[in-house]
Amino acid sequence: MRMVDLIEKKRDGIALTEGEIRWMIERYVAGEIPDYQMSAFLMAVYFRGMTEEEMVAFTAAMAESGETVDLTEVPGVKVDKHSTGGVGDTVTLILVPLMGAAGYVVAKLSGRALGHTGGTIDKFESIPGVHTDLSPREIIDQAKRIGVVIAEHTQDVAPADKLLYELRDVTGTVPSLPLIVGSVLSKKIAGGADLIVLDVKCGDGAFMQSFPEAKGLAESLVRVGNELGKRFSALVTAMDQPLGRMAGNALEVRQAIEVLRGGGPEDLREVTLALGAELLLLAGEEGDEVTARRKLVRLLDEGVAWEKFLELVAAQGGDTQCVEDPARLPRAREVVEVRAPRAGYVRRLSARQVGVAAGLLGAGREVKGQEVDPAAGVELLAKVGDAVDEGAVLARLHLGERARPEEARRLVAGAFEIGDEPLTPGKLILARVR
Ligand code: URA
Repeated sequence: MRMVDLIEKKRDGIALTEGEIRWMIERYVAGEIPDYQMSAFLMAVYFRGMTEEEMVAFTAAMAESGETVDLTEVPGVKVDKHSTGGVGDTVTLILVPLMGAAGYVVAKLSGRALGHTGGTIDKFESIPGVHTDLSPREIIDQAKRIGVVIAEHTQDVAPADKLLYELRDVTGTVPSLPLIVGSVLSKKIAGGADLIVLDVKCGDGAFMQSFPEAKGLAESLVRVGNELGKRFSALVTAMDQPLGRMAGNALEVRQAIEVLRGGGPEDLREVTLALGAELLLLAGEEGDEVTARRKLVRLLDEGVAWEKFLELVAAQGGDTQCVEDPARLPRAREVVEVRAPRAGYVRRLSARQVGVAAGLLGAGREVKGQEVDPAAGVELLAKVGDAVDEGAVLARLHLGERARPEEARRLVAGAFEIGDEPLTPGKLILARVR
């Protein structure tokens, strides 16, 4: 078999066989297929797509490309979640300890910033001392000890995804349904959970911008995932404006801490509770969604989830004093304000533009392997529906070491549309796919 033949086949819209897909993934992980050929293949998939059989074979080959985390020796029900990526989406940092507080085991494998979206690992590592490079053995031991883990999906587990994820990030091939399906599901399947809830983001700041596309992705994820023997459920959630009021690593940790302490922005809390309730129902807990949410609200408001978060941070080497007192988290040396050019109501706030701006300030990466700046990002003081006066501060830009402040400022200023008519923000939970 030759890689060039598979690239040509896909370029011409012909489906690959399971054997061809397995061969390609194995050779790529072994370093025998160069990035330039894999990049060409990814671009061909971007334009030509994959059949459902190809997606199943692609996902299985990626899931089996390395070690799997076998959680069978950990007592309890193992749950997991995954988001297709958004801006200000710091739900994982809240939901993992929340589900742990509810008595479930969560050994979460997460990624880094991708495109204009943030990544849980970059966020979690902005807490001084936190390390996420855990081996499967360390993940299992920590899950047994405290029930919760957030680890980077490394070379050991689903290595094909780690390699492809980084390559897609720099070749313009992130927003492709089959590539997202393979990427998301391979990690979840290799990660060893029994029940998984997926948060498929929809809107300007998501990889899937229209509702039909996002719903289609949610359906493919649930179908392919169930075909591979796990129980999946998905919510399609709005990502037209950022979730919460922060986009950037340490800034989002601060926001997660607010929710874990019973406060925080309503939209971030709402998406977290909806995903958590979905997991409780998937796990067969008695009662309906209202009962499930009530249980989770209690765990947040009574500080049980917060205690679990402190345990998680400490177990992974983090300085708990920095989360107890978030003023000690990394801070930017310089902050620049963006002001409203006129009075009125915020009618639109582009999540994508805010995400790109956060990247330009240093919160994301422009080339493979670049360091992110933990302190960099965008803080939003106004969101859709808010009334603002002329000259009011709409956002604060937290400048990282390699920030490009002027470009970021233009983007954030342009992200806001201010009009005369008041507007109520749209629904957050757009669909449920079981
Ligand atoms: N999240 C993933 O894990 N993979 C993708 O491809 C996109 C979002």
